[in-house]
Amino acid sequence: MTHAVCPGSFDPPTLGHLDIIERVAGLFDQVTVAVLVNPDKTGLFAIDERLDLLRAITGQWPNVTVDSFSGLLVEYCTRNNIAAIVKGLRAVSDFDYELQMAQMNSGLAKVDTLFMPTNPEYSFLSSSLVKQVATYGGDVSRLLPPVVQQALAAKLAAS
Ligand code: PNS
Repeated sequence: MTHAVCPGSFDPPTLGHLDIIERVAGLFDQVTVAVLVNPDKTGLFAIDERLDLLRAITGQWPNVTVDSFSGLLVEYCTRNNIAAIVKGLRAVSDFDYELQMAQMNSGLAKVDTLFMPTNPEYSFLSSSLVKQVATYGGDVSRLLPPVVQQALAAKLAAS
């Protein structure tokens, strides 16, 4: 069985993330979307909220599961028999850092990284920019699944 992981912060998940997850789900038997628990960084959404949002937006694909992890990604992969990390590449500017991480990860464990170009429609899209635009009242409806859009609006209204 082929099993890939789509790792990230997903704070919050965007349509760009969802596009990658859908395409990876079409290529692998099993896909785990893994949210990094980063003790050094408090996100806008709590980890459990991100997991709930990811479960809501990926529920239509039976081979996609959602989980969180802390520590090294390759250790999570090894523990769960995951042979491939799939990362979306938005632009050349993503490549340098992603290549460094891929080479470090393949040196740490027998886990390969595959790069998948994002849909050009989402090449400018990042969770941080979406949060910034939404904070100042900009329209992010084209960039987020509706359930995430509602959660972000509620979160910003409460803060
Ligand atoms: O969505 P992000 O923040 O770009 O995701 C980055 C992520 C979670 C994929 C990366 O930071 C990661 O893999 N962190 C886990 C810690 C780790 O394994 N670090 C070594 C990378 S070479």
